[in-house]
Amino acid sequence: MNSPQHPLHSAQAGADAMTATAPPVLVTGATGRIGRAVVDLLTDAGVPVRALVRRPESAATLPADVEIVTGDLTAPESLDAALHAVSTVFLVWTAPPQTAAAVVDRLAAHTQRVVYLSAPHRTPHPFFQQPNPMAALHAEIERLIAASGVESTIVRPGMFASNALFWWAAAIRGDGVVRWPYGAAETAPVDDRDVAEVVARALRESGHVGGDYVLTGPESLTQAEQVRIIGDALGRRLTFEEMPPDEFRREAPEAARPAVEMLLAAWNAALGRPAHVTSTVSDLLGRPARTFRQWAADHATALTPAAD
Ligand SMILES: NC(=O)c1ccc[n+]([C@@H]2O[C@H](COP(=O)([O-])OP(=O)(O)OC[C@H]3O[C@@H](n4cnc5c(N)ncnc54)[C@H](OP(=O)(O)O)[C@@H]3O)[C@@H](O)[C@H]2O)c1
Repeated sequence: MNSPQHPLHSAQAGADAMTATAPPVLVTGATGRIGRAVVDLLTDAGVPVRALVRRPESAATLPADVEIVTGDLTAPESLDAALHAVSTVFLVWTAPPQTAAAVVDRLAAHTQRVVYLSAPHRTPHPFFQQPNPMAALHAEIERLIAASGVESTIVRPGMFASNALFWWAAAIRGDGVVRWPYGAAETAPVDDRDVAEVVARALRESGHVGGDYVLTGPESLTQAEQVRIIGDALGRRLTFEEMPPDEFRREAPEAARPAVEMLLAAWNAALGRPAHVTSTVSDLLGRPARTFRQWAADHATALTPAAD
């Protein structure tokens, strides 16, 4: 395992499964990719869940037994109701940085333990060491959490497998030609469901305090190979066409510029070397991490044109 602070495999053995009478776990980002899956895993395990949402209507698809509380990370005072009498908090931060310190102060005043969704910005692989405002924000929030004295577990996934849906699904559903830069750059996409499972365990089991978990998929794959694997899963021949980075920049909307520059720098730095791969998912979950092939097979519907 590549996580130096990993507190042994026996977290499951020391599990403190919560009962329906226990205080709830507060899940932020509950309508997002990881938070939404964490809500399902916790409720399936009988753990009471409170979900923080910005708009009540966005909670419509959450399970009926989840307590919905509105609040916004950019307005720290709006979080007090959500934080009242919670056990642990899952913190997802995609908001601007300005209110992070005030939010962490409030968390620390109400809860003993936080599980924070960060990124592998401490991992000494060039892919993770490029200029990256999001990594700087994650580092700052981790610093604030540590300084607050609250117990914490930091979960650091690499590239989510589901990025493929955002990046390539439209082209795949269309003519099957994916035009994209740095086809030879290798990443180890981690299945969002594996990330959510690790988070859910860290929230409901004892033994994860101080845990610092770098999560990746089980294999290093070039971006072109990832497209080919999706084609295999769909039974279709997909084509990967190399797109010059400048064209990628030009085609990106203005608002996505920082993310585009961050990705281009990371892919460029990754050329010619395998992606960083950890065994942390399988070490923690006691089963192999899901492969990208598995992810693609399980998302075939979303990658297939709807029949008319
Ligand atoms: N994508 C990757 O490959 C990757 C890899 C490593 C780490 N990460 C990290 O993962 C995190 C994103 O996780 P995700 O993909 O699960 O999130 P996501 O799908 O982008 O969803 C973001 C969630 O945060 C909520 N949210 C946004 N602004 C908020 C605010 N001001 N107050 C309260 N809630 C707010 C959103 O609620 P609404 O429904 O109201 O918008 C939504 O539930 C980021 O910190 C990112 O750096 C991503």
